Amino acid sequence: MKQPKRMWGGRFQEDTDALVEAFNASVDVDQQLAMEDLEGSMAHARMLGNVGVLTAEETDQLIAGLEGLMDDVKEGRIDFLVSLEDVHMNLEARLTERVGAVGGKLHTARSRNDQVATDFRLWLTRQIRVLQRLVRQNREALVEAAEANLGIVMPGYTHLQVAQPVLLSHHLLAWEAMFERDEARLADALKRTNLSPLGAGALAGTTFPIDRHETAAALGFDAPIGNSLDAVSDRDFAVEFLAAASLVMMHLSRMSEELILWSSQGFGFVSQPDRHTTGSSIMPQKKNPDVSELIRGKTGRVYGSLMGLLTVMKGLPLAYNKDMQEDKEGVMDAVATLRACLTLQANMVPDLEFHEDAMRAAAAEAYSNATDLADYLAAKGLPFREAHDVVGRLVADAIREGVPLEALPLDTFQAASALIEDDVYDALKLEAVVDRRTSFGGTATSNVKAAIAERRKTFEEQPPQ
Ligand code: ARG
Repeated sequence: MKQPKRMWGGRFQEDTDALVEAFNASVDVDQQLAMEDLEGSMAHARMLGNVGVLTAEETDQLIAGLEGLMDDVKEGRIDFLVSLEDVHMNLEARLTERVGAVGGKLHTARSRNDQVATDFRLWLTRQIRVLQRLVRQNREALVEAAEANLGIVMPGYTHLQVAQPVLLSHHLLAWEAMFERDEARLADALKRTNLSPLGAGALAGTTFPIDRHETAAALGFDAPIGNSLDAVSDRDFAVEFLAAASLVMMHLSRMSEELILWSSQGFGFVSQPDRHTTGSSIMPQKKNPDVSELIRGKTGRVYGSLMGLLTVMKGLPLAYNKDMQEDKEGVMDAVATLRACLTLQANMVPDLEFHEDAMRAAAAEAYSNATDLADYLAAKGLPFREAHDVVGRLVADAIREGVPLEALPLDTFQAASALIEDDVYDALKLEAVVDRRTSFGGTATSNVKAAIAERRKTFEEQPPQ
């Protein structure tokens, strides 16, 4: 059976092989760009009218047809056909059905190569803005939680061994700092995404007197891209987005890992709300942190998309190559993954129930105040290295006795160093250990309170872009 007439079919003597047709088509993926495709077509048609390539009547007919198609897309009335290959040719075919032969004039001074890059950039610009707001919501939730839980002392770790006590709020603000960088990285990626390739044509520009600045402005782009070859060949913006997205996922994954550890029986630092957890089909007592585990797990697919696109692009000669059709699926999957993970994480944070007693006990347990005893001696003039050695021996004594440092009698302390006086007991208290860390960026309550106030001010003054 003869297939539907192809838009590019003029020079072909035989029909496309059925497997080739299915293999070549991208409409299953790129139909997500339908609204952006129609918006791009409208801007292009209006511009063609303004510069006199189309008559006012032709322009009006095309705009009316495109508006009708927008309603069709919104209502889900368009049946995208694999035989029409991609979203661009599906919509052009529908337009011509609606408006007749004038539909064929829309593609004047345009190619699918600039069209697809335009649609993709427009779509990604919008998605990045959604993601920036979601990252901001996570930052706000963390700052709220830092404020609500001020005063809770927990162990800070290195090598996952108890190191020095910190405020839980300080730890939560460290998570927030990761997201602060993510927001900035997304804003940076946005700058190089929100540029217009429209009017670059297939690769070399066009003979028609088009106005690329007009279409760029009409679509909300910051500017048209300067070099027509680059405009249709560049996918850096998608790679940059995937790199920023990978870091967002890395951060979510690290937080998830800590929440998983902290909610395990060995730690007992936090309970996740029932509605964010699941049970076991066999063990009735179980409450599993599936959401955190899945966020951690889904990080892999976003990294995969980054590597995938870098690899697709690495050997491509200028300008467009069909390989580049592979650019969208990974980016769209990353966007959907980030949207879901960021939303779930932001929803969970306010409902985390931190267990102060368990955190405090763990912080007090493992000689986490030993550095402070060394600092105490160093502040009295003993070289830090010697102080370290003195305290190391005291820790060994305390381990032998099975007691914390602050339970050693003053004689024992003074036998180790004559510099130790009975104010040492105050210096070793958990609160003192935390609150004396007033160095810039340290965990003292006064610092953390100031950091919370500073964050709140930033949120007010700089809404996400
Ligand atoms: N479906 C194609 C893509 O996603 C559109 C551009 C096709 N251009 C071409 N000359 N075959 O990349």
